[in-house]
Amino acid sequence: MLLRCRSANDPRPSEITPRVLHENRRAVLKAAAAGFATWSAAAIAQGAATPAASSGTARLEARSSTLSTIERPTSYKDVTTYNNFYEFGTDKEDPAAYAGSLRVRPWTVAVEGEVARPRAFDIDELLKLAPLEERIYRMRCVEGWSMVIPWVGYPLAELIRRVEPTGNAKYVEFVTLADREQMPGLRSSVLAWPYVEGLRLDEAMHVLTLLTLGLYGQALPRQNGAPVRIVVPWKYGFKSGKSLVKIRFVEKQPMTSWHRSAPHEYGFYSNVNPQVSHPRWSQATERRIGEDGFLQRKRATLMFNGYAEQVASLYTGMDLRKEY
Ligand code: MTE
Repeated sequence: MLLRCRSANDPRPSEITPRVLHENRRAVLKAAAAGFATWSAAAIAQGAATPAASSGTARLEARSSTLSTIERPTSYKDVTTYNNFYEFGTDKEDPAAYAGSLRVRPWTVAVEGEVARPRAFDIDELLKLAPLEERIYRMRCVEGWSMVIPWVGYPLAELIRRVEPTGNAKYVEFVTLADREQMPGLRSSVLAWPYVEGLRLDEAMHVLTLLTLGLYGQALPRQNGAPVRIVVPWKYGFKSGKSLVKIRFVEKQPMTSWHRSAPHEYGFYSNVNPQVSHPRWSQATERRIGEDGFLQRKRATLMFNGYAEQVASLYTGMDLRKEY
C-alpha cells in the first residue's frame, strides 16, 4: 500500500505547506510524540485563531500518520464555520451558530447486529481504545467544494475487530443522534431523521476509514460532529456521519438518509468520481474553501478524491456509473 498520497496526485508546489512551516509542523508533531498537542503549526500556517482560544474544547494527543496528505490544511476557522449538519439548519453557518445546544457528555455508541460481542462504548472509553493519530485528509463535498482537514482518530477497524463481526455481517450502518430537544433542525423535514449512513464491511474495515474524535489536535467541535463521527475521505462528505450513536452490522445494504430522499442523485457508494456527474451538476472540478476569489481557478477533482491507489481495488469489477 502506498503510504503518502503523492505520485499522480502530487499537489502543485503552491498547494503544499511552505517548507519552513512544514518543518515547523514536523517539529510540533515530534513534540506531540513527547506529549504536546499537534494542532498549532497547521493552524499557524493559516493564521488561524488557536482552537483552544476559540472553543475551549479538550486537547488530544495524537501521533502523526504517514497516511496524511502533504497539502496545506484549510484554516481552522473555515473548517469550523462552513459546515453541513442539517440537524442544526441547512445554511453553512447554522451548525456553528446553533450546535451549542448539543450535549456531548455523557455519550455512548451502541454496537450491535451481526457481531459476536455486541456492546456499548462510552465516549471516554472510545478516546482510549486505540492510539490517536492525526490524519490530514482531503475532503470533497458532493456540492462541489473541498477542504483539507487535520482529523484526529484511529481506524474504525480497531473497534470492529473488538466486536467480532459474524459471517453474516456484510454492511455497516451508522445511526446518528436525533433529539428534537437538542437539535432545532429536526423540525424540518428536509431529511428523514435520524441521519443514517452506511458502508460495505470491507470499506468500513479499510485503514483510511477513520473513527474520528477530534480535529486540529482538539476534541471535535460540536458543529463538526462531536463527540464522535466517521470520516471516509474517498467518498463524498455526506457519507461521513456526525455525532454517532449506533453502529449496526447487517446482512443487507442499509437504506441511507440521502439515498432515501433522492435515490437518483445520491447512491449508496458515493465514491468521489469526476467522470460521473450529479444529475444536476458536473463533479469534474471543485472549489477549495479558502481559495475563493474572482480569479481563483477551480481544481480538477481526482478519482476517489486522490485515494485511488489505496481504495480502487475495493471496486474491481463494479460499474461505477451504475453503482454511484
Ligand atoms: N452527519 C449528520 N448527522 N448530519 C448531516 O447533515 N452532513 C454531511 C456529513 N455528515 C451531515 C453529516 C455532509 S453533507 C458533509 S459535506 C459533512 O458531514 C460535512 O462535515 P464538516 O462540516 O465537518 O466538514
